[in-house]
Amino acid sequence: MAEEAKNNGGHDAVVAAQGHDHVEAAVGTAVIASDAVQNPGLPPHRKRVTDLDPKKAKNAERGVYSLFYLSIAGSLGAVIAYMAIPIETGDLMAIRLQTLFVGLGMALALLAIGIGAVHWGKALMADHESIDVRHPVASDEPTRAAAAEVFELADKESGFSRRTLVRNSLIGALIAFPLPGITLLRGLAPQDRNPVQLLKHTMWAEGVRLARDPSGVPIKASEVTIGSAFHVIPETLNHEDFESLSLDERGGSETLLDAKAKAIVLLMRLDQSELKELPERKDWSYDGIVAYSKVCTHVGCPVALYEQHTHHLLCPCHQSQFDVSDHAKVVFGPAKRPLPQLPITVDDEGYLVAQSDFHEPVGPSFWERLK
Ligand code: FES
Repeated sequence: MAEEAKNNGGHDAVVAAQGHDHVEAAVGTAVIASDAVQNPGLPPHRKRVTDLDPKKAKNAERGVYSLFYLSIAGSLGAVIAYMAIPIETGDLMAIRLQTLFVGLGMALALLAIGIGAVHWGKALMADHESIDVRHPVASDEPTRAAAAEVFELADKESGFSRRTLVRNSLIGALIAFPLPGITLLRGLAPQDRNPVQLLKHTMWAEGVRLARDPSGVPIKASEVTIGSAFHVIPETLNHEDFESLSLDERGGSETLLDAKAKAIVLLMRLDQSELKELPERKDWSYDGIVAYSKVCTHVGCPVALYEQHTHHLLCPCHQSQFDVSDHAKVVFGPAKRPLPQLPITVDDEGYLVAQSDFHEPVGPSFWERLK
């Protein structure tokens, strides 16, 4: 037979090799060895205890709806934890506890829905092999009728309509699960306080010295050379004294980081002849030195890049650019209003000081529109 295969070409050789282990095939022909392991097929179907014993089926049903109720409890627990452990004070322990319990509640809610659904499928839904015959996607009448039949059959076999407790508890669990997510959105808004006032009032006040960030060393006007840029904080913003300041002196901020985030400023010196100042702000600069909020008016990133040559400040988040020589107006990007300017002057010792707080809210323009 091997000789015949040589003469007939590869096909016969392949066929021959499939039937006999010790066949000599022509050189270059493919040889398909017979499978080492036979396909064992499906194991014989064994009925589940819930198929054989109605009591066990009832128990399984109880287990399923208990899990869905547990999920509802988890979701509500997360909401209650959010409300019961407020973190508005910035207390680190409160933040940890709230995060822990909200997380545990949501995890329990999701886990219980998952386990309940799996348990329902494994213990109560029809247990047989089925073949999913695929048809082209079409919406003609017979297909729709067939689909409706499948749904009816699935409904019948899963007991979705019949087992009302299981169905309703699942619907309840699915409705309750998004509640913690919606509740958490509240944390994005300032709590019970006017955001415009919060962003308008910072630690800057008349006579507060401009200091380097982060050292807190006050800056003399003579140290600011043309072309230089300083990252600036109020001199009063330091760890030692912050706790002893009143809420008003802290600019309405509870924590040092919040106070710093609002009060942070960029200081630059330009040639006086290059400054185009608005008439009402003529005395807000000192000898070519100008100070602007570092908080971008788009969505609040720090505007940290200064290009001395063009006098442009660049926000790295979405590339908004502000022209420092022209009252920090927007020259490019999505920001909609200039950076707020801090009016400055010098004190008797030559240190740069603020004339007042900002005259408008710092940060994103959204608050500006609420004025
Ligand atoms: S936050 Fe500055 S450009 Fe978007």
